[in-house]
Amino acid sequence: MTADALSGCPVLHSADEPRLDFGGTTPYEDYVHAATLHDLQRPVTDEPLERSFLVVTQVMELYFGLLAFDLTYARDRLAGDDVRAATTALHRCVLHVKALRAAWLPIARMTPREFNAFRDALGEGSGFQSAAYRQVEFLLGEKSASMLVPHRSVPAQHAELSRALTEPGVYDAALALLARRGHAVPDDVLNRDLTRPYAPSPAVEDVWAKIYATDEGELLRLGEALTDVAEEFTGWRHDHLMATRRAMGAKTGTGGSAGVSWLEKRARRDLFPELWTARSHV
Ligand code: HEM
Repeated sequence: MTADALSGCPVLHSADEPRLDFGGTTPYEDYVHAATLHDLQRPVTDEPLERSFLVVTQVMELYFGLLAFDLTYARDRLAGDDVRAATTALHRCVLHVKALRAAWLPIARMTPREFNAFRDALGEGSGFQSAAYRQVEFLLGEKSASMLVPHRSVPAQHAELSRALTEPGVYDAALALLARRGHAVPDDVLNRDLTRPYAPSPAVEDVWAKIYATDEGELLRLGEALTDVAEEFTGWRHDHLMATRRAMGAKTGTGGSAGVSWLEKRARRDLFPELWTARSHV
């Protein structure tokens, strides 16, 4: 028996029940920082749907960060020739993006009137300005120096993204590993300018076609895990496009782009392109 910290009353708990008495904050709070997390929801209007929009956006932001962490982990395991650990990390990434896609549900079907009720209050804010999302794109091979510009005035973010721009992505690391395993990945691919978007190569297509035709082992499983990541990520882009079409039609975006037509172009791009095209030759 112990005493309740506030009332001084005795607190009873038996061996099979959770502990109830904690001197200060709970260990849950110490680990999760739930009070801090809840304090971060600060809607700018009284529209109840805006809170859903804000929380969904924050949840997605956390997932972008988690995805960047596990993609980096996968890339580094590939660089260390640990294909099994890299593939396991890529499987985690697939689940993160599935969760990201499920997170759309509360706001996927906003009508223009519902969105208009708080849209102006967002000012020029747009997910386009998410540094964590951009880091994920860089890790997936979609490099672009101009995407650093919005982050110029936040030195820590700018430095992190500048580093990610010049580092190999997860696909670069996979192709380097294939070369070390004796596959004919050309030098110009292995030594490519990492600050540029990955461009497809017929020779890399041949490498994947050979692996898909003959390999039953870890390289085939690596190819499939990368393809799963690519497919789910493209799915997130498509979900975003559909939610945007429903909420605002062809209006311009809060970030200043043409809106839907700009997002359509982005959603059409294939990640890890030869993993898709090689299949025609197997
Ligand atoms: C239905 C609500 C939403 C609408 C209408 C919408 C609209 C747009 C538009 C028009 C753009 C193009 C850039 C611009 O001009 O702003 C954009 C970009 C973007 N949005 Fe959303 N968005 C919505 C929800 C979200 C949510 C919840 C997230 C999660 C963080 C998000 C993340 C992004 C990202 C990462 C980009 C950049 C995409 C890229 O660079 O290819 N959006 N959004």
